[in-house]
Amino acid sequence: YTEEELYRPNFHFTPKKGWMNDPNGMFYYNGYYHLFYQYYPDSNVWGPMHWGHAISTDLITWTEKPIALYPDEKGYIFSGSVVVDVKNSSGFGSLKNPPMVAMFTYHDIKKEKAGETNFQSQGIAYSLNEGLSWTKYDANPIIKNPNIKDFRDPKMTWDAIHQQWIMILAAGDKAMFYGSKNLKEWALLSDFGKEIGAHGGVWECPDFFPMLVDGTDDYKWVMLSSINPGGPNGGSATQYFVGDFDGKKFTIDETFSKDVKQQKGLWIDYGRDNYAGVTWANISEVDGRKLFIGWMSNWDYAQKVPTETWRSSMTIPRELVLVKDSGHYIVSSKPVKELQNYIAKTIKKESLKIDKETVLVDKTVVDLSKLDIHFSLKNLKKDVYTFSFSNDAKNTIQFGINKKENYFFIDRSKSGKLAFSNLFAKNISKAPFKGDFDKMDVRIIVDKTSIEIFYNNGKTVMTEIFFPDKPMEYFSVSKANTEYTIENLIINQLNFN
Ligand code: FRU
Repeated sequence: YTEEELYRPNFHFTPKKGWMNDPNGMFYYNGYYHLFYQYYPDSNVWGPMHWGHAISTDLITWTEKPIALYPDEKGYIFSGSVVVDVKNSSGFGSLKNPPMVAMFTYHDIKKEKAGETNFQSQGIAYSLNEGLSWTKYDANPIIKNPNIKDFRDPKMTWDAIHQQWIMILAAGDKAMFYGSKNLKEWALLSDFGKEIGAHGGVWECPDFFPMLVDGTDDYKWVMLSSINPGGPNGGSATQYFVGDFDGKKFTIDETFSKDVKQQKGLWIDYGRDNYAGVTWANISEVDGRKLFIGWMSNWDYAQKVPTETWRSSMTIPRELVLVKDSGHYIVSSKPVKELQNYIAKTIKKESLKIDKETVLVDKTVVDLSKLDIHFSLKNLKKDVYTFSFSNDAKNTIQFGINKKENYFFIDRSKSGKLAFSNLFAKNISKAPFKGDFDKMDVRIIVDKTSIEIFYNNGKTVMTEIFFPDKPMEYFSVSKANTEYTIENLIINQLNFN
């Protein structure tokens, strides 16, 4: 194997070459899901930012398109969003051919180097050919910098409830909300966040949208806020808030506010590798799902991971579901259902009695670098439940539930290449245990270099990457300090040809 082949994921999006970070401007239109991303084609580390572009009909198989936005004399093109301006409120297109309008942050590197604080502002661009090519608006920037150093990552949404365009952007230790009628002129509505949530770093890449509470006709507004550093296990991560929005101001739900304080933030993903994730625009055209994708890396080490010609991949696209559990709101995630179309082989085991280390499946039966695994555990006792992927090179990635001390964990400290950064496997990652002792559902998506674990229908998620010396060969119960039963184990091998 060359490192390229060994480490390029089977079914997670990566650019063919060059550096990638945040997902940007995702929208759905006319049968295609569009994904843009922070992109530097000329190197495998961060640099002058472009927007790369890829499209898919099913969120799983992606085709790279030409670069959508290039840096210009006003600056690098930082993160932002796209909306489909169906009513042509911007006037950039027509009702027959609605424009896609992008808003991004201009990062003026000259001003930054000169020590000024006002180097980030917002610009727009439009496309009349479904995002293939873009024209920057000549009156850019449309939102000037109000003398705030970190002032970026505008995420626009059509607010159907108040019949307005809204936009949220990150402003250091808070988010700012704007409203507009035409996508060109924006008025400040309010801000949120100074007093609540995690603040171990600056806020970045926010998102803000209404969601139905699962199984009801009620809705709440959900805000996502990425933060770097200050994540629950170090480096960058994405927290969320649930509350109400009156068209101007976001007010956090009271119980949720208590949960945030008690749990030091609630996180979309407690693993170390899901950052800057935001949601797709214009999905109502299909089926109203709230679809999300994140950058599957962490600023702590992203620029050092052992790949050469390309760097970083995205998470599996996920559907977000807002659930209410005895008064507590949780934003849960699950892999998009389209992944099921790739199942090539299924192995089922109904009730597996476990009382010692056990190999559940090995490479003679399935390819362990493209799996979708489900199982459940019943009557969890005060014990530790440890699973692993491993190979004969003694690489192992361990994960599971420590019921004794009430946390979920991932331990990649023996997962293969580690030396590229001492921050990569400094500690095991933990998530507070939430769930039902009586029945715990586990779903695991495994690619060559990533594991995404969804506990209890995705109410707790942990995503991490790893770089083994050779492909993983075994999926095992790697420690059993108790007797228990694995129920309804389903091991799906996926195929992507
Ligand atoms: C988040 C981020 C954004 C910024 C972009 C620059 O990862 O720092 O705030 O727009 O990356 O590439």
